Amino acid sequence: MAHPSTFPAEQWLARWRGTPGLLNLAVTYACPISIDDLISLSTEDDDGPVITSSKLGYGSINGSSELRQSVAKLASGQETRLTEDDVIITQGAISANFLVLYALLGPTDHAICVYPVYTQLYSVPETFGSQVSFWQLKEENGFIPDVQDLNELFQRNTKMIILNNPNNPTGAVIPEAVLRDIVEIAKARGVIVFSDEVYRPLFHEPENAPPPITTFGYTRTLASGSMSKSLSLPGIRIGWVASPDKELIAACSRRRNYTTISVSQVDDQIATYALSPAVQPALLQRNIGLARRNRRLVAAFVARHADRCRWVCPGGGTMAWIQFRGAASGRPVDDEAFCTRVVDECKVLLVPGSHSFGCGEDFAGYVRLAYVCDTAVVEEGLARLSKYLEEHLQD
Ligand SMILES: Cc1ncc(COP(=O)(O)O)c(C=O)c1O
Repeated sequence: MAHPSTFPAEQWLARWRGTPGLLNLAVTYACPISIDDLISLSTEDDDGPVITSSKLGYGSINGSSELRQSVAKLASGQETRLTEDDVIITQGAISANFLVLYALLGPTDHAICVYPVYTQLYSVPETFGSQVSFWQLKEENGFIPDVQDLNELFQRNTKMIILNNPNNPTGAVIPEAVLRDIVEIAKARGVIVFSDEVYRPLFHEPENAPPPITTFGYTRTLASGSMSKSLSLPGIRIGWVASPDKELIAACSRRRNYTTISVSQVDDQIATYALSPAVQPALLQRNIGLARRNRRLVAAFVARHADRCRWVCPGGGTMAWIQFRGAASGRPVDDEAFCTRVVDECKVLLVPGSHSFGCGEDFAGYVRLAYVCDTAVVEEGLARLSKYLEEHLQD
């Protein structure tokens, strides 16, 4: 299969950016917040995140010690304790992902990547000449990777398994038991497991939340993370790579010198504040509450249009992966044409699935609908979409 060297979802979003009056059900971050909002969430009577007297030099090269300590805590578990030295701060997770793939994969390597997934995770290795095999996520398995299929995908030169948990675009969460199996298989072969975990810790049922990939007692694991999604701060451009493996972190650090000196010191301070014990719990509580409330609205919409829609209810993250079918034909809609008409006629922005995540071939009729934005936007967007479905039976 020919994989795209472009980033179709980003191109789709760029096409509609700036359209007046658009209801945006395509952005994948939890409803963003301001510095004032952050201060009001804090349980301490403090001066807020930005130290206006601090001199704005480059600062600490890999990110401030305080920020890296907070990230290390997020990436630690009972079996593995990470420290600030195991963390590199980057400009968003998009840079973290790029760095890992650039540093660790080359033209003689093979990688296995879950699919569908955020395109960057397989297109960057392909750009550097690596060969990538897709590990298909199937609807009948709830879009959770099937470990039986994994064994078939290994090649002599397989170097990395690439996961995305929770997954963009399906919203599926890989449970702990499956992660443990994946890690065991990787360990037996000495293969690296890299998990893009930018939607952590936005889990609808926190009691079922799997631990980060870095906590399973296998050193050759890396996780990327971000302030953008579950922490509502995409505008500060702070992400990270964490790994218990000193060599892997050193390899990323060496390559990082080509693209990054340090991140913005102001962004670093805001991220540190948002991750502090005084702010982080309230921020996550806000977003998990929002995700649960809005997911109920999407579930009611899917139930109401059961003759036209199917889905696997997402367990985490900020999005739902819904297949739309024609009322008369029962066949999956042409998702790109469908989403284009929905923008034109309803001013609701969705992301077409086969166009943006299926290399134009797979996932016909699927649409990604992001729902952890303002509840009023979700309500109005779904109401317009309902009306559209009722008026366009042939779609
Ligand atoms: C799976 C995944 N990884 C990484 C990113 C990049 O996020 P950031 O804003 O942290 O660069 C995104 C953004 O949509 C994403 O969905």
